[in-house]
Amino acid sequence: MLQETEKIGIKRIIIAIDGPAASGKSTTARRVAQRLGYTYIDTGAMYRSATLKALQTGVLEELRRSPELVSDMLQGITIHFDGDHVFLDGCDVTTDIRDNQISREVSFVSSLKPVRDKLKEMQQELGRKGSVVMDGRDIGTVVFPEAELKIFLVADARERAKRRYAELLANSSGSSALPNLDLLEEEIKQRDRDDEERKYAPLKKHPEAKEIDTSRLTIERQVEIVYNLALEISRE
Ligand code: DC
Repeated sequence: MLQETEKIGIKRIIIAIDGPAASGKSTTARRVAQRLGYTYIDTGAMYRSATLKALQTGVLEELRRSPELVSDMLQGITIHFDGDHVFLDGCDVTTDIRDNQISREVSFVSSLKPVRDKLKEMQQELGRKGSVVMDGRDIGTVVFPEAELKIFLVADARERAKRRYAELLANSSGSSALPNLDLLEEEIKQRDRDDEERKYAPLKKHPEAKEIDTSRLTIERQVEIVYNLALEISRE
């Protein structure tokens, strides 16, 4: 079946979607990619995979004392995607990287310069041929500043906490207690501070990026807005 892009013959662009945690990036990016017949690349999953590797190889604590050791850990690391699945050194880690421990440690691992350099190189290779939607924190500013379409999604911290809560509720077995909304909001704000204040590739909006506040938008509407922008640009 022909994708919509093939039917109307538009060029293969790079779409960079950045923004804070739970602003709707991954759902929007995945659905826009699907509609355009593009590849979706979740760079957060790549930072989570590097964090899992640090945990698996037992070097995480050592890295806190001697961050320069990270280069050894990165030697030969491979991360690849197959549909919605993420593979670290050939093993499917799609579920493991969503673990709470990974969520707590990923800010530290993603603040290390050799990690950012290595993953940036991998991301540039993955997006080289275009026809990709890549989401993260520094895609429009650092990884693909030349991306034809740059989007910066934002939303109220409370609204983002509610989304996280709904996500946890949907994934819970019912036996484990869920964190309350205030705590989730505090965690989200802390993660915003960590991402915005780090030295390398902090979360910030590229001056050319289009900012979309998703606080009061449905997912369908978000997707529609980004999809229409992509069509406009790729026809220019
Ligand atoms: O989107 P996420 O929650 O899965 O991302 C996990 C962490 O990875 C997030 O706290 C910040 C980091 N990250 C980053 O530093 N740069 C990116 N391009 C993507 C994610």
